[in-house]
Amino acid sequence: MLFQKKKQENASETAAPKGNAHYLSAKESREIARSNAKTIRELEKRKKRHVEEAEYLCEMDDPANIVEFDDLHTYFFTDAGVAKAVDGVTFSIPKGATVGVVGESGCGKSVTSLSLMQLVQAPQGQIVSGSIRFNMGDKAYDIAKMPVSDMRKIRGKQIAMIFQEPMTSLNPVFRIGYQLDEMVLLHQPGCTKVQAREHSLEMLRLVGIAAPERVYKCYPHELSGGMRQRVMIAIALSCDPRLIIADEPTTALDVTIQAQILDLLRDIKKKIDGSIMLITHDLGVIAEMADYVVVMYAGRVIESGTTAEIFHNPLHPYTVGLQKSKPVVKRKVERLYNIPGQVPNPIDMPDYCYFKERCDRCTAKCDGEYPHFIQVSPTHRVACYLYDEGGEPHA
Ligand SMILES: Nc1ncnc2c1ncn2[C@@H]1O[C@H](COP(=O)(O)OP(=O)(O)OP(=O)(O)O)[C@@H](O)[C@H]1O
Ligand code: SF4
Ligand SMILES: [Mg+2]
Repeated sequence: MLFQKKKQENASETAAPKGNAHYLSAKESREIARSNAKTIRELEKRKKRHVEEAEYLCEMDDPANIVEFDDLHTYFFTDAGVAKAVDGVTFSIPKGATVGVVGESGCGKSVTSLSLMQLVQAPQGQIVSGSIRFNMGDKAYDIAKMPVSDMRKIRGKQIAMIFQEPMTSLNPVFRIGYQLDEMVLLHQPGCTKVQAREHSLEMLRLVGIAAPERVYKCYPHELSGGMRQRVMIAIALSCDPRLIIADEPTTALDVTIQAQILDLLRDIKKKIDGSIMLITHDLGVIAEMADYVVVMYAGRVIESGTTAEIFHNPLHPYTVGLQKSKPVVKRKVERLYNIPGQVPNPIDMPDYCYFKERCDRCTAKCDGEYPHFIQVSPTHRVACYLYDEGGEPHA
């Protein structure tokens, strides 16, 4: 914001005053705008052209996975430069498992999930490279290469999303019943309105709404926050998705309702025998719900493993810091730990470890290129110079 204000004030100037790193001269701004427009045009053209199914058919690395993110890069082409929101993310979601994605605000959790839904805010937001392999059962698709028209058949039906704030995701001018029926009618051809209504009422019952007929006729503003979130879950479930993405599903709710919604998600996962990608900054929720944990920092995965591995043997200094900053019952502390410093600006990432400026354990090696992943166990990996293969501390 700071540089934008300055940019407006000095729009007529062409030369940048020395020593102000946030300042963009008018010439630099023009160059950025020109380069952005060119890249966006090419990427949009690629998305809109007719693509045969053969072009986005792919093979899963492991057929036991429902989704495999492979070196995904999603960038935002902004007036200030290219923001690398997701910068080479690789992880998998096994079938039937809950994978928790954790990290502080702005680290790219939501953009990763929006990339999977092809819902990144275009035209400035674009999947630039990498693959998102989605297992359809009999075949697999690379969502990063799929045309928008084909993606519509998967979105909502095979992959459903529950957002943080149900009031902004539900349409305020339509009744709940209409919004539920619409989903069924769209994805189940041949379904009549009466059948859709029956199905919607059944979904409302499934998510624990006591008076489904009444709620069916309500507008979103007539419901409480917890009920709205239940309705969102009912909409997400209405087409039996293989994967549910829950982006901070309980953050806007109070603690008791949070617990109910988490129980509901757990029950529902069992019923539909699906997978959940659970995005949250709450480590408590992760510990309770997830089978695997992916820790993200500044657009990259820095550590991943089973929940037990990440909670009992955290290796990356950032993961250790996140855990130290969590209050624990019976542990008395004067002040909760906070990780010093800030996440680097996604427009101007360093070429060494992104956590270096905040890390209290960095060594001479950390000045080198960004650390590669070290495989600690078949499921646990970490990107940090402190460890050798097998997770042994580096000599
Ligand atoms: N529409 C956009 N235009 C420009 N930059 C964006 C846009 N949406 C997201 N970003 C940037 O992408 C980065 C990742 O954002 P993202 O929303 O994925 O973070 P997050 O990890 O979900 O954070 P939070 O926990 O606050 O939801 C941030 O630096 C953000 O500023
Ligand atoms: S690579 Fe170095 S700077 Fe980065 S987290 Fe590990 S110890 Fe810290
Ligand atoms: Mg988010």
